[in-house]
Amino acid sequence: MADSQRKILVTSALPYANGSIHLGHLLEHIQTDIWTRFQRMRGHQCYSVCADDAHGTPVMLKAQELGITPEEMVTRTRAEHHQDLLDFYVDYNNYYVTHSPENRELSELIYKRLNANGYISKRTISQLYDPQKEMFLPDRFVKGTCPSCGAEDQNGDSCDVCSATYSPTELKNPRSVVSGATPVLKDSEHYFFDLPKFEDMLKAWLKSGAIQSEMANKLQEWFDSGLQQWDISRDAPYFGFEIPDAPGKYFYVWVDAPVGYMASFKHYCNEHNIDFDSFWRADSDAELYHFIGKDITYFHCLFWPAMLEGAGFRKPTGVNVHGFVTVNGAKMSKSRGTFIKARTYLEHLNPEYLRYYFASKLSEGVTDIDLNFEDFVSKVNADLVGKVVNIASRCAGFITKRFDGKLAADLGEPALVAEFQGASESIATAFEKRQYNRAIREIMALADKANQYIDAKAPWVTIKDEDKQLETQQVCSLGINLFRILMVYLKPVLPMLAEQAEAFLNDKLDWICAQRVLTNHQINQFKALMQRVEMDKVNAMVEDSKENLLAKGASEPAAARDSELSKDPIGETIAYEDFAKVDLRIARIAKAEHVEGADKLLRLQLDIGGEMRQVFAGIKSAYQPEDLEGKLTVMVANLAPRKMRFGLSEGMVLAAGPGGKDLWIMEPHEGAKPGMKVK
Ligand code: 2FM
Ligand code: ZN
Repeated sequence: MADSQRKILVTSALPYANGSIHLGHLLEHIQTDIWTRFQRMRGHQCYSVCADDAHGTPVMLKAQELGITPEEMVTRTRAEHHQDLLDFYVDYNNYYVTHSPENRELSELIYKRLNANGYISKRTISQLYDPQKEMFLPDRFVKGTCPSCGAEDQNGDSCDVCSATYSPTELKNPRSVVSGATPVLKDSEHYFFDLPKFEDMLKAWLKSGAIQSEMANKLQEWFDSGLQQWDISRDAPYFGFEIPDAPGKYFYVWVDAPVGYMASFKHYCNEHNIDFDSFWRADSDAELYHFIGKDITYFHCLFWPAMLEGAGFRKPTGVNVHGFVTVNGAKMSKSRGTFIKARTYLEHLNPEYLRYYFASKLSEGVTDIDLNFEDFVSKVNADLVGKVVNIASRCAGFITKRFDGKLAADLGEPALVAEFQGASESIATAFEKRQYNRAIREIMALADKANQYIDAKAPWVTIKDEDKQLETQQVCSLGINLFRILMVYLKPVLPMLAEQAEAFLNDKLDWICAQRVLTNHQINQFKALMQRVEMDKVNAMVEDSKENLLAKGASEPAAARDSELSKDPIGETIAYEDFAKVDLRIARIAKAEHVEGADKLLRLQLDIGGEMRQVFAGIKSAYQPEDLEGKLTVMVANLAPRKMRFGLSEGMVLAAGPGGKDLWIMEPHEGAKPGMKVK
């Protein structure tokens, strides 16, 4: 039985509003969602909130690039992110955006309290400034020659070649990634948060078990190297909230981002008449957990608890850190097609496959989680289809056809039932501690036992024996009951499968339901609950992920295109010599046609002056093939040919626009002739 009712608030890190949701995000949102659903099934008052992280320079510049306001871009991206998550059955009470009135109010409140309590100071610092764009440049918007090894084209904070770290002012030949101009040093007054004042509190908080010990040890290094004052202001132009009484100064995005957790919850509380303060006041009896990736531990385990403490709010009960996602043992890669976006996945595969696979691999630790495609296919097929669903499909038909859909009055085998029921607390503890892999192992061991029982009893043999009808009904009824208990345990992981099972069982599943059995109970017709996953579908998803890159801009709003590149949203600059290598030619679209099995592509036959090229272009959302035939366009003629699922693509056509219907191929003036070089 669940302990007394707990009040819990859970959050996932807020995705930036300038990139698509991808596998890396999904690991975290699925981990959070499983935990939340589990707590709710146990009868606790558990809320979960998230939001889009709207502010900062990359979002501002991306919106400028698209020719829309940042507000417009953020609204669009938030809706897209929310839908992606809903389609993975990730169910937040509120999915909000940090550019909200609640967040402005709470950020100002926290800042004012910190200021009143003496934790804010001002001083003038000198930073690189883009004189052309008239803005200060964050480190990653400056590039130049490494001061240590002389490698060219290195980032403003570290060198990829020799790993040296430095300040952007030390770079040789620095240039602004935004405009290409040479940055100059410029003075400006900045606001600082006095983090060192919180050292003792933070050390004690970290010892309280709020974070995994492996991370707490890592955090010790920060204390060893000494806590620093934190620069919390940014100068205009900046997309964010202006600091009270400081015109032209804005909160750095990482100030109002975590406050966004509070703001999202506040919005929900206002709409649902929930006492927000009881979750956030310093002596709150509610629990607060943040699920995050290991790269943002610093913000959540130093700045955030210090801000909360300094402003008189409660601190998190726990910060649950997870590792990164790798695919087939390597970092996700756009060129290999393993940088997989939520939407691309959904176009090919059932979201519950991924929920199950991640659950089977997630522990409470921070090690990276590898999505190995072979393992993914075999695990989903063997465990879900071959073991769990199989139990029901082996028993249901006999009950429906021979016993009018009625389960037996007595199931027999009390020891087996007791074993399944007795696993409840151990599995619950595994979920509670985020040891989902252990929970899944225990559930699958039970599934094996259920199948062994059915094998031994062979109802498909006994059903033929007139004298063994009752026995057969009992065996199948027990099988269905064992399936039902397993579905209780799997419900946090597989909410849709559980919903379908509930319809079949004619029963609602809560955690406590495992402790009773269904006898003399009417069930409904069994329908196939889950299809096997085919490797072909996985391969097609990978191909499509490559396709997104090939047909850049074609498949989705550009606003949400570059999570991998989000460190450098403008894209890397290239040397003139590199540009000169690109052979752009005028092409006449001789033929355009649909491609069977491709959602986004059209097959084009391009005439480049006597030579024909086949190109697959991701412009199906914007053009009917017949409208393209005869048009002139521009193609990259010397792009290495690429073998796609549908054939060889021998180049690329140029198109512009945010995506969907709003996408236009380049159409040169009619004076241009096929084959002409574009200079
Ligand atoms: O790293 C990120 O993607 C940030 N947008 C996470 C913010 S989490 C929170 F603090 F808001
Ligand atoms: Zn270097």
